[in-house]
Amino acid sequence: MCGIIGIASRKEFESNDVIKMLKRLEYRGYDSFGIATDTGLFEKEVGEVRHVSDNRCTQAIAHTRWATTGKVTKENAHPHSSCDGNITIVHNGIIDNYLELKEWLAAKGHQFKSETDSEVIAHFFEEELKTCDMRHAVEKFFALVKGEFAVLLIMKGDDMIYTFKRGSPLVLGIADGMNILASDIYAFSNRTNKAVFFSEDEFAEVSAGGYKFYKYDSQLVPLTKEIQVFEWESKESGKMQYEHYMLKEIHEEPEAAARLIDSMKYEQKEKMNELKKMIEDSKRVVFVAAGTSYHASLLGVYFLNKAGIESHAIIASEFRNFTLLDDRTLVIAVTQSGETMDVIQALHGIKGEGVKIASFVNVPYSTVQRMSNVSVNICAGQEVCVAATKTFVNQVVALSYLASLFGYENGIEKIPDKINSLLRQEEKIKGMAETLKNVRDIYIIGRGFSYPVAREIALKLKEIAYIHAEGMMGGELKHGTLALIENGTPVISLMPEGDNHIISNTKEVEARGARVIVVSNSSFDYESIKIPSEDEASFSILATVVGQLLTYHVAKEKRLPVDKPRNLAKSCTVV
Ligand code: M6R
Repeated sequence: MCGIIGIASRKEFESNDVIKMLKRLEYRGYDSFGIATDTGLFEKEVGEVRHVSDNRCTQAIAHTRWATTGKVTKENAHPHSSCDGNITIVHNGIIDNYLELKEWLAAKGHQFKSETDSEVIAHFFEEELKTCDMRHAVEKFFALVKGEFAVLLIMKGDDMIYTFKRGSPLVLGIADGMNILASDIYAFSNRTNKAVFFSEDEFAEVSAGGYKFYKYDSQLVPLTKEIQVFEWESKESGKMQYEHYMLKEIHEEPEAAARLIDSMKYEQKEKMNELKKMIEDSKRVVFVAAGTSYHASLLGVYFLNKAGIESHAIIASEFRNFTLLDDRTLVIAVTQSGETMDVIQALHGIKGEGVKIASFVNVPYSTVQRMSNVSVNICAGQEVCVAATKTFVNQVVALSYLASLFGYENGIEKIPDKINSLLRQEEKIKGMAETLKNVRDIYIIGRGFSYPVAREIALKLKEIAYIHAEGMMGGELKHGTLALIENGTPVISLMPEGDNHIISNTKEVEARGARVIVVSNSSFDYESIKIPSEDEASFSILATVVGQLLTYHVAKEKRLPVDKPRNLAKSCTVV
């Protein structure tokens, strides 16, 4: 995944200013980081982005890594340099044919210091620049290299940052006396609101004084690009009184949901109507999403089907294997970041087939938003914790609101108050978490609209509390999983009032010794959390919030790195 940043400035700046910007990209990966400047600083370390040696410079590139090829080591951290040390690069993406390139470069005498695919880029340019200029070397790179890349390349004694991209996101920020290249606008949104977004197969030469863009199409052709002025909340509130972003973001849910409802009723009303019209003109809706956003999409399917609209949800990484599309299919991408590569690739695969694309996105100006014919902003505000919490809530709010435009009745407008009232039960949930901190497995069962919720709670428990958890359809238990239920195995049963089948499934696990925990809007003679819901959409949201709080307190009890769990990144920008 990884985040990259490059700065070319007229005035000198501090190396640690770059580090501050890099920190803003840490959601893209945080296992190691590094920086190189034109005044000789070259530092890289394992671990989170942190202070480096003070160094004044006018040009710098930096990188925060989420390991793909090569272990998490200092050697594998970026930047990487050529043998003579004249060329230094940072890279986001994956070079698929790096072994082939490495073999070719090694045969020419190049020595590699890391296990990464990225290092071949520095050696490739060292080799090519022996016989041609930079533009021709870039053309060769585009022609030969397979995979995804956003690369920043600097050379000793040269004030230019050379940058080229395919697949991975890249944007140029135009600030006062300074040009900034980054994986997204968030890196520099506190410095400028002017940006030039790179499209596929583009190359740019960027210095403090200006920039030139080129499009690669068997050769580089000069290109004029438009500067976009974006609006972005540049202030950050930090964790405030909360120990972790996760808890802060859960507590922001009522406000975030109210903001979205208001926005869909007024500011984004036109867009919602446009989306409604697109659905009316289509034969079916296919959601494409990953992780938590997929679970929200499953709820979207449930809500829209109830409103009589044929809908399906497909996991983005399997999209092409499980869908048949035609020009009467509307694809709706659901994504917090708008940068999830699985989703982007799925959308790339259908571009040009006459299929219309809509999306629900949290991060404005993201790739998915820019790829969509209509994109609704879910207005959750910045989410820092790797776990999606308030953005899931807002995705479900948006999808239930959309279904309500087709007559699906729900009480979503009351959800902010309901979440607030549920949050008052946090102490009780915390008490329950203390009793679950040492368990190995947890099963969560649901049926119908509470099945996606079961999966979402399981995902939270896995990624944040490091507990093996399975969220499943209650009816599936007897087809195998029941064999795993032993004395004391915790099973969380999502039990909306009137769902007699899930009561039977709960009794099945109880009969086999399970410790049953019920989440319901009705009262049962079980260890339970009662949620104040009167309709399916609010049950889905409130039961999920119980799962979020439970997960948070289990993880806290276990002293885990709640906001940055091991091996993960907030935004998964590789396939
Ligand atoms: O940004 P996206 O919504 O596209 O991200 C999708 C998943 O990577 C994301 O939901 C992930 O599963 C979260 N870590 C879940 O908390």
